Amino acid sequence: MSVEEVKDESGNIRIIRATLKSGSQCEIYTFGATVTKFTTPDGKDLIWLSSTAKLDGTKAIRGGIPLVFPHFGQPIKEMPQHGFARNNTWKVEGTEIKDDAFQTTLSLDQTMATHEAWPFPYKLELVVAMKDNELKTQYIVTNTGPESFRFQSLQHTYLNVADISATTVTGLMGQRYLDKTAADTTLLNIEERGAADITQFVDRVYVGTHLNSTPGGVLVKCPTGKIRVQGSATYGDGIAMPSDTVMWNPWAEKAKGMGDFDDDGYLKMLCIEPGLVQDFHMLPAGYKANLTQVLSFL
Ligand code: BG6
Repeated sequence: MSVEEVKDESGNIRIIRATLKSGSQCEIYTFGATVTKFTTPDGKDLIWLSSTAKLDGTKAIRGGIPLVFPHFGQPIKEMPQHGFARNNTWKVEGTEIKDDAFQTTLSLDQTMATHEAWPFPYKLELVVAMKDNELKTQYIVTNTGPESFRFQSLQHTYLNVADISATTVTGLMGQRYLDKTAADTTLLNIEERGAADITQFVDRVYVGTHLNSTPGGVLVKCPTGKIRVQGSATYGDGIAMPSDTVMWNPWAEKAKGMGDFDDDGYLKMLCIEPGLVQDFHMLPAGYKANLTQVLSFL
C-alpha cells in the first residue's frame, strides 16, 4: 500500500493518492476536498470525472464528489451556486494507511473561505475512509460561532455508470420527490418505479430518504457493476436526522452548454447525491451535523 502527496510550488498538498494492498485506489484534490477517483481491487472506476474538468483551481471540479455548502443551488443570490466549499482549498489534517484501509481528514473554516452573504464562523471536515470495495465520506459541519446559523450541505457524487441506457436505479420507490425540471418545482411527487431508468434530463430531490426509509440505500445497476450509495445524517452526539437524495443527469443539450462537461458525458454518468438540502437546517452554536455517504461496490 502507498500514499502519494503531490505538492504545489509553495509546498502545499494539492493531491493525495492512496493505493491499498488489494489495489483499490482513491484520489483527493485539496481544492474543494474533491474526491476524484475510487477504483475497486478489480479496477472498476466508480467515479466519473469529465475529461474537460478544470483541475487547476480556477473552477469547481466537474466530476468526482464536489461538496456543497452553505447552500444548495442558489437560494442566496449573492453567493455562487452550491456555495464556497467546492471552490476553495482545504487543509489536510492527517492521513493514515494500513494494508487494507486508508483514511484522511481535510478541513475548511471561515479563515480560509467565507462570504459576506453568509458571514458565520464554521468548520467543515471531510473524513475519507477507503476499504477494498467501499469508500466512506463523512462530511461534518460544525457551528464554531456564538449564534445559530442556517445551512444546506450535500455530497455531489458523480457515478461512472458507463452506459446510461443500461442503467437502473432501485431503492427509491414510494419516496417523495421535488422535480426541478417540472413547471411547479414545489410539488411533492411520489416515485412509482421500482427500477428507474434515465432517458432524459433529470433533476430531482428525493426528500427524507434516510437509512430508516431505504435500508439498502440506493442501488445503481449499470455496466460498471452494482454500485450502492447510502446516505445518512446525524446531528449533535449522533442523533439520526432525515437526509435527502438528489438525482441529476443534465442530458445532451445542457451537457453541451457546460464548457467543462464532455459533450457525451451524460451518457456515462449519473449523480446520486446525499444531502441536507430540502430547505435550510438551523445549527445551534457548538453543534455538529454529519452527512455520511457510503459508496460500495457489490
Ligand atoms: C445538481 C442540481 O445537484 O447540481 C442541479 O440539482 C445542478 O440543479 C447540478 O444543475 C450541477 O450544478 P453545477 O453548479 O455543478 O453545474
